[in-house]
Amino acid sequence: TGCGKKEEAANVQAPTTPAAEVKEYVVGTDAAYAPFEFENDQKQAEGFDIDVVTAIADKAGIKVKFINTPWEGIFASLNNGDRDALVSAITITDERKASMDFSEPYFEARQLIVVAKDAKVAKFGDLKGMKVAVQTGTTGDELVQKLLGKTSADIKRFESTPLALKELESGGVQAVVADNGVVINYLKNNADKGLISVEDKDSFHPEYYGVAVKKGNAELLGKINEGLKAIKADGTYDKIYAKWFGE
Ligand code: ARG
Repeated sequence: TGCGKKEEAANVQAPTTPAAEVKEYVVGTDAAYAPFEFENDQKQAEGFDIDVVTAIADKAGIKVKFINTPWEGIFASLNNGDRDALVSAITITDERKASMDFSEPYFEARQLIVVAKDAKVAKFGDLKGMKVAVQTGTTGDELVQKLLGKTSADIKRFESTPLALKELESGGVQAVVADNGVVINYLKNNADKGLISVEDKDSFHPEYYGVAVKKGNAELLGKINEGLKAIKADGTYDKIYAKWFGE
């Protein structure tokens, strides 16, 4: 009869896929950029970007883990294979598109100027002749270079945006130029420092953040875009947005 066969089959171990074999994508993030990414008390990356990519991964059926990666080496970490993807409030620019691929945009941003309350700064051009701090290699850095000159001694570059802001607090510079979300969050948490933000929509245009992957990694990029589309469609993205920026 077929009975014996059945029993035999039941004794055979079903082939299982050990958890270790499920590919876990390593996502680099410069976790010094609240509320987009910052290290919590458990030294885990947390923030809007982390929630967005976690939700994308859920929808796309992939596993991700986040590793704090200094901005300075973040783009190189894609090409040398240390990271599979980057989420770090990274503005999609033509220059960057030449060396990496970006997802569809997931956030719109703009630069803001931070100065002392009594500073005579109403527009970007007013920073001429002042010392300005930026995070090295950011879009803010690029814009300040355009205004003050690439090699200007008035530009003070820092490896993180919090360090640039500290320099302003201590009076080492008169201004900082950085992404609006980070500036607004900083001013909210440092209301006692006598600093304000100045907007200049003529000089600063919208920037769009994207998730970056190694150039040519169409497989991962496809999954990210698919997941992003899904979280935008089903309200997950809006919930995450409200959690970090709603009120
Ligand atoms: N959006 C800006 C850029 O792409 C700044 C991003 C900095 N991000 C960070 N996590 N430090 O240049």
